[in-house]
Amino acid sequence: MEIIITDNYDLMSEEAFKLVKNLVRSNPNSVLGLATGSTPLGLYKLMSDDYNYNGTSYKNIKTVNLDEYVGLGKDNVQSYAYFMNKYLFKNIDINLNNTYIENGLAIDKEKECKRYNNLLNELKQDIQILGIGSNGHIAFNEPFTSFDSVVHVVKLAESTIKDNSRLFNSIDEVPRYAFTMGLKNIMNAKKIIIMASGVNKAKAVYELVHGKITEEVPCTILRNHKDCILICDKEAGSLL
Ligand code: PGA
Repeated sequence: MEIIITDNYDLMSEEAFKLVKNLVRSNPNSVLGLATGSTPLGLYKLMSDDYNYNGTSYKNIKTVNLDEYVGLGKDNVQSYAYFMNKYLFKNIDINLNNTYIENGLAIDKEKECKRYNNLLNELKQDIQILGIGSNGHIAFNEPFTSFDSVVHVVKLAESTIKDNSRLFNSIDEVPRYAFTMGLKNIMNAKKIIIMASGVNKAKAVYELVHGKITEEVPCTILRNHKDCILICDKEAGSLL
């Protein structure tokens, strides 16, 4: 795994942006695998600015998102569909019909998992962007998720509910279940960029780089990927 440690969050975002920009410019029909959360916000701002000031076009880009809360639709401000629109899609010239995410409101969850899984088999990510949970999760693949997992519904770990409660009015409002790409879907990407910022990610980043490759720490599967880059700030990389 290639490792880039930057002085701060903004420089971490810049490093990831350079790779995304090169891909989008060299292949305007690329498939981007995208993530939500605080970590990629700087990257999405740089992509939005690049479109606005330099005209880098996303007209023919397709995107697939990692995960979505069960029970939240795209009009709910806490949904990941809403997040993607707010922080990226509405700021660039992407065709919204080319942006894909699980439907949090799907009644038949099994069917929805199958639908999204089939879609991912057709749309292989040229680059997959990832954050990392403080417990080592990637997307919502919590500790002990099978390395062979595909799209599924997951019961969120208590630590994830606690971490994500900062974005809700109270911890009781955090959904307990989510749809998520499985680890196999993530590993299918041609290139993976995992970003991490802040000291609360330091232990997970240490496990990612030096820990035993085990389902107990889902991110460790990334060491089996042939083109994975870790980009983290010096706080997140402080135990390396
Ligand atoms: P964060 O979440 O970017 O908000 O820290 C990352 C994750 O939980 O995967």
